Amino acid sequence: MCSRIWFVTDRRISQEYPQVQILRALKERCAEEDVDFRYLLMDQIVLTISDGQLGLRVEQELVTSYPQVVLVRVPTPWVQSDSDITVLRHLEKMGCRLINRPQAILNCVNKFWTFQELAGHGVPLPDTFSYGGHDNFRKMIDEAAPLGYPVVVKNARGHRGKAVFLARDKHHLIDLCHLIRHDTPYVFQEYVKESHGRDVRVILVGGRVIGSMLRCSTDGRMQSNCSLGGIGMMCPLNEQGKQLAIEVSNILGMDVCGVDLLQLNDGSFLVCEANANVGFIAFDQACGMDVAGIIADYALSMLPSRLTRKMSLLSVVSSTSETSSEPEVCPVPAGGSSLPEVVCNMSVGSTSSESDLELAEPSQSSPRQSTAPTLPSLPNLPDLSDPAYNINTLLASEIKLLTE
Ligand SMILES: Nc1ncnc2c1ncn2[C@@H]1O[C@H](COP(=O)(O)OP(=O)(O)O)[C@@H](O)[C@H]1O
Ligand SMILES: [Mg+2]
Repeated sequence: MCSRIWFVTDRRISQEYPQVQILRALKERCAEEDVDFRYLLMDQIVLTISDGQLGLRVEQELVTSYPQVVLVRVPTPWVQSDSDITVLRHLEKMGCRLINRPQAILNCVNKFWTFQELAGHGVPLPDTFSYGGHDNFRKMIDEAAPLGYPVVVKNARGHRGKAVFLARDKHHLIDLCHLIRHDTPYVFQEYVKESHGRDVRVILVGGRVIGSMLRCSTDGRMQSNCSLGGIGMMCPLNEQGKQLAIEVSNILGMDVCGVDLLQLNDGSFLVCEANANVGFIAFDQACGMDVAGIIADYALSMLPSRLTRKMSLLSVVSSTSETSSEPEVCPVPAGGSSLPEVVCNMSVGSTSSESDLELAEPSQSSPRQSTAPTLPSLPNLPDLSDPAYNINTLLASEIKLLTE
């Protein structure tokens, strides 16, 4: 049977960095490995049920050869259950292995849905409230009082930090109530003060951490999103952070995932949100990585022919070694070399955003300077794996430096 992979994305995001990079990487790898490849936009696909059987048509032609693996990139904030998810369900029901699966995408479409999935698993979450009915924001102003002030308010479908507010008191919330759109519910969330203006973006592929990036706002605001001017810098993650990100990815059923973590003063992490359609332009720049290449390798590793090869290799290993450990649940990408075990092994890439930062001269006298993202070698990067390390106090001077 011929191995086949499709890459399906949405026309509105098809020209953006992650999609362009993934397309390039998949095309290259499929050509090298003799895998049949097809690139499709959501709106080119026609779903059919004929003679009681599921089928597909693309541009007026019946599809006769189906892919075993479909890599999907859909813009999560706009995902529509009745159109996008319908296409993905159809492909899944036809036996294709989707990366990510539709249920995993749905788990991240709405911030409160994500937390509903994570609740009850012992995962540390900031207290978060939401509501039923329509236009109930006003009612929540009183109902959310137990969360205290200031309180974080987010549109359940917001993204890129654009619909996240820090409301200082009840009057501020009442003012917001008149300004916001009420067609999507909002979530009210405990403010994690220690993490103001910073979070850690962890990217996982196949349930494994491939890297982590500290993001800091540069203008004093709470949101650290790079799309709002936040800066990203590679930094290793402590074991609790790593395990937490893995658990989140597993609970949500994600293959490719970005988990945002907030850090407390004792160094431990809480979940902020999870992204099914994670962007990685800033991440590639800050960490000198090729996330698209890693995703493409992972997609190829999910082809049944590769899985069979890996399973037979594992059975040889386990039968010849008494000390061998359990096989991993998620397969290692083809070649096995593209997923670094820990981010500590990564080198910092030279990028435009970093070259801006290089203008700030690190001072040898202050220990704080060792956290500056401008330093050339890895040992000088912030090390979140050190429990004594506190990003909140150490970064304050760096942020100031960078914004001056
Ligand atoms: N409860 C919170 N306490 C402190 N900071 C927060 C909290 N929630 C979000 N943030 C900050 O706001 C940013 C955006 O929030 P997030 O929930 O990730 O929304 P978006 O999907 O728009 O990125 C986060 O990256 C983080 O820096
Ligand atoms: Mg976010």
